[in-house]
Amino acid sequence: MRHLSKLIFLTGIILFLFTFSIAVYFSQRMNNYGETSVNSKIPNYKYHFVLVPEEVDNDYWRLVEKGAQEAARKNHVLLEYVGPKQGNIDEHLKTLEKAAASNVDGIITQSLNEEEFPPLIDSLIDQGIPVVTIDTDSENSKRISYIGTNNYYSGFIAGTKLIEDTKGEVNVAIITGNFHSSNQSLRVDGFKEAVKHEERIKIVAIEESKISQIRAAEKAYQILNEYPQVNAFFGTSALDGIGIAQIVQQLNRDYIYIIGFDTLKETIEYIKDGVINATVSQQPFEMGYQSVELMVQLLEGKKVPEINYTDTLIIQKEDLSSDKQIGGNIND
Ligand code: BGC
Repeated sequence: MRHLSKLIFLTGIILFLFTFSIAVYFSQRMNNYGETSVNSKIPNYKYHFVLVPEEVDNDYWRLVEKGAQEAARKNHVLLEYVGPKQGNIDEHLKTLEKAAASNVDGIITQSLNEEEFPPLIDSLIDQGIPVVTIDTDSENSKRISYIGTNNYYSGFIAGTKLIEDTKGEVNVAIITGNFHSSNQSLRVDGFKEAVKHEERIKIVAIEESKISQIRAAEKAYQILNEYPQVNAFFGTSALDGIGIAQIVQQLNRDYIYIIGFDTLKETIEYIKDGVINATVSQQPFEMGYQSVELMVQLLEGKKVPEINYTDTLIIQKEDLSSDKQIGGNIND
């Protein structure tokens, strides 16, 4: 009897050690970066890619991930979605370095600025790891391809829409994701270009939300106190329009015109309610999907185009019941 319990005890220990070492092995192989999710149901995968956004816990990026995972399943790719939980450039760069150290077959990443990202992307390419940029390009790096919005153009169409939809004097405040992000500054530049010859439109303030909805709301509130003449807002990243709309609605300033970015659920609700007038729709799902397809083609020796712009269009209330291809939202 004593023998039997000793045997059961030893078997238990051996089983425990075996499971533990397997878990450690796989967690080191596939997830040594922090916040991550993996499509671990891909047996015998052909390639291992890593997708690194500026903020993993963001509904816009979850849509990009959704598209990427769908293409990964189709192409037998093990795809890791990993990066800072909340926007943080150092963590973003470290994640890229760690992905390279674990010898992945390809890296898909947003490139946030032209100072820190190009040297790192170049060193990844020099180590033989293909890099595709997504959502925000790094034109001055050796990245192989870009897939995403033409950010300057997307800001330009927002400016054109504001001109089209308003009459008389317009004092507009811009709330942008980050001053340091190239996609955000390109959107602001495009917007400025569109309105520059329209004398009745003045840009009176520009603040950054750090891509946080709460901060966008705080900034909108602060702007309305400092510049009571503001009668229009442009929010240049996915959560800015939502933050602005919350404040405008709370303060009952229904004369204020709001144009936002992206088609997340709350944005669509605010458009239905007439609080947000229009939004620039991007194609995050499509970006994610195509980024994986591009990388697979690359690894299979095919030539891929350097620039791959996804569609950008303006969505307003009447489009919600039409066939216009809305960028999607995470609950679809
Ligand atoms: C941008 C992303 C950004 C996100 C933040 C989107 O409009 O394309 O780059 O991370 O907004 O919420």
